[in-house]
Amino acid sequence: MTSVSRFGGEITVPGDKSISHRSIMLGSLAEGETLVRGFLHGEDNHATLAAFRAMGIRIEERADGALLIHGHGLHGLTEPEDVLDCGNSGTTMRLMTGLLSGQAFFSVLTGDQYLRRRPMKRVTTPLSLMGARIQGRDGDERAPLAIRGGSLVGIDYHSPIASAQVKSALLLAGLYADGPTTVHEPHLSRDHSERMLSFFGADLRTFAGGVTIQPQPRLSGREVAVPGDISSAAFFLVAALITPGSELLIRNVGINPTRSGVIDILQAMGGCIEPLNCREVSGEPVADLLVRHSDLRGIEIGGDLVPRAIDEFPVISVAAAVAEGVTVIRDARELRVKETDRIAAMVTELGKLGADLEAREDGMVIHGRETLSGGRVDSHGDHRIAMSMAIAGLRAAGEVRIDNTACTATSFPDFWELLEKVRHG
Ligand code: S3P
Repeated sequence: MTSVSRFGGEITVPGDKSISHRSIMLGSLAEGETLVRGFLHGEDNHATLAAFRAMGIRIEERADGALLIHGHGLHGLTEPEDVLDCGNSGTTMRLMTGLLSGQAFFSVLTGDQYLRRRPMKRVTTPLSLMGARIQGRDGDERAPLAIRGGSLVGIDYHSPIASAQVKSALLLAGLYADGPTTVHEPHLSRDHSERMLSFFGADLRTFAGGVTIQPQPRLSGREVAVPGDISSAAFFLVAALITPGSELLIRNVGINPTRSGVIDILQAMGGCIEPLNCREVSGEPVADLLVRHSDLRGIEIGGDLVPRAIDEFPVISVAAAVAEGVTVIRDARELRVKETDRIAAMVTELGKLGADLEAREDGMVIHGRETLSGGRVDSHGDHRIAMSMAIAGLRAAGEVRIDNTACTATSFPDFWELLEKVRHG
């Protein structure tokens, strides 16, 4: 990657990863057909797709990439013959652990070397309170997880972390419980599960600080239009903001308020981002985002903004590295247990390009500078680190070489092509 002149024109980014996962899960548990348009054909979502096919669900892929799911109802899954491989996908593993806890069969979930290192007690502990029988390595903390599904009781659970994966695992298990299941969280995490469960007909009530689901509804097949993933759009937002002369329109991006923290953060840094044509599609807010090059300045980021931008911190740290002044990120300890330790990874890799940043236990302190230098960096096998380093390369004075870039296929298979397409010399 070497520096470029500007980003211009119009693009769309691939479908939202979180919504794509949930559309397969709920489409499979619904009665009747579910048509999913805009589905993200990335490796993470394909892991979920393969898992449901392995449990007897027929899912057709149309020529335009849309999926047609033939749902079997809440009790229509069959015992998989083999271990279910979640690949790199934490969402697949954690949500399925909840869902499988309520099935009348045995299943085993595993994943790649990164996923097998990630913490699972955050879901297995509350699921055990519901009566789930789950065993895993390292005192049930790590996958592979073996799940002997059975009857579950509803619980009232105060989650110590704002995690949509924990909340969603419990809501999916709650579909099979003997009474209501309530999840409280310290800050609101992404609410795609709540929205989609309601959209499919579940009996669910949200309140300040939590959500309650009633068991055993009849879910009905729906048409779902998946918006573009704001987490993928974020790379192009930052690319345009930090590249002089840029003006880029990103069409059809999901701007659910539980996900749009990156827009608020970049705007607070002085970034010119205008949401246009705001609308609602399949129960999710969507807009086109017009972004122009801007002079960015450092800010303080913490509190409830953190879960609203949790996947965007790698690229936010790139914006901060070339902003004027200091950016402080706190309350973001969760970044240490993502696909990799994203605090350590960004500090190490951006540091190799001459950025001035230091790690804190729960975040980073970043002193912005005008330009970065060239260098050789590594993705740590993490898709968002790989793409963030590509964006950092736009402001590097020399060539930036990124090792281990195949991981971008987990969430954004066409990232490199799109990046080339919108660069104008
Ligand atoms: C996700 C939730 C987030 C996010 C992940 C996808 C989801 O994780 O980081 O990429 O689809 O529910 P946590 O809920 O664990 O923070």
